[in-house]
Amino acid sequence: MPTLATLATPAVLLDRQKLAANIRGMQAVCDEHGVELRPHIKTHKMVAVARQQLAAGARGLTCAKLGEAEAMLPSGVRSLFVAHSLVDPGSAPRIAALADQLDDFRVAVTSEAHAEALVRLAAAVGRKLGVMVAVDSGLGREGVRDAGAAGRIVTRLARCAQLEVRGLYTHEGHFYGIPHDQLAARAAELVDRLCALRDSIDPALAVWPGCSVSARLIALASAGRVQAVRPGVYMFGDLSLTRTTGVMQSEDVALHVLATVVDKPEPGLALIDAGSKTFSSDRTPDGISALAADGRDLAVMRVNEEHGYVRGSAVDALQIGERVIFTPAHVCTVVNLTDRVVVTEAGQPVDTWRVEARGRSQ
Ligand SMILES: Cc1ncc(COP(=O)(O)O)c(C=O)c1O
Repeated sequence: MPTLATLATPAVLLDRQKLAANIRGMQAVCDEHGVELRPHIKTHKMVAVARQQLAAGARGLTCAKLGEAEAMLPSGVRSLFVAHSLVDPGSAPRIAALADQLDDFRVAVTSEAHAEALVRLAAAVGRKLGVMVAVDSGLGREGVRDAGAAGRIVTRLARCAQLEVRGLYTHEGHFYGIPHDQLAARAAELVDRLCALRDSIDPALAVWPGCSVSARLIALASAGRVQAVRPGVYMFGDLSLTRTTGVMQSEDVALHVLATVVDKPEPGLALIDAGSKTFSSDRTPDGISALAADGRDLAVMRVNEEHGYVRGSAVDALQIGERVIFTPAHVCTVVNLTDRVVVTEAGQPVDTWRVEARGRSQ
């Protein structure tokens, strides 16, 4: 195995101990409050990580795409939810195959318009499928906008023998923009709202909210009313969870990018060999693609495909050829850009893991 000093860069590093601690930490909160953990695998896309989540007690996995779901089967998962608006009749054989290989396979219905498409798709699948009804809780993406629409969807799907409504879910992605001191109250409000909606339709339905910003707070506020949460980023972490929302400590982040300083073309600027093809183009709300993980004032403020522009008070002390470890702004898009991650222990490479579901966006 190469060392951190000899590894080809840019490289994506995954700290094994921190990963395990983050998986255990979220599972412990969920277990304590009687809420199932159904992690969204779109962040890690790796069978090895899914296996660890399941071994720690995760009840099932969540995916965005059928390709991700297929890629996760070797993890031994038995319960899987595809939280996306499936519409393509051509995908029916793949859905049937997934349903045949799992104990519990659920799909999403995301609006009244989508319900019609899902009914047509289910007829082509020819299997009984569990359905979770999406509720828009403020992101303004998929999900019913009011209780009337939710009720009409449940009534509509009740006439379809292949579809069985099992619960409600929401992705409260707008929580990434809520000030830290308001998060707990907003999570408690969200739980109240979703549970009231559920009780107005059918108290036997499950309620599955919970992203990485809100999952712990929702478990705390659940009081037996919420059945599962589906966070994705929590086991790696990134600047969205540390700097932007403050729900994670920087020292707990498990995934980083190792980059090399390749040029210092003018005072106050260093160029590294990692750009948008490593960090993606996602940035924090204050315009940062990545920050030095060791606390030095080094920020990637701009990216081209293979260059990162590093600014900050520590830039002029950098040497060409020096290696710097960065915490990316958004980890999901970083992982989706790499075939393999380098697993580290005590800061040194010990293994490489393949990102099996990388690019499985169909
Ligand atoms: C439907 C759905 N569920 C769960 C998640 C997980 O959220 P996070 O990555 O913020 O933990 C996402 C993230 O995009 C999502 O779209």
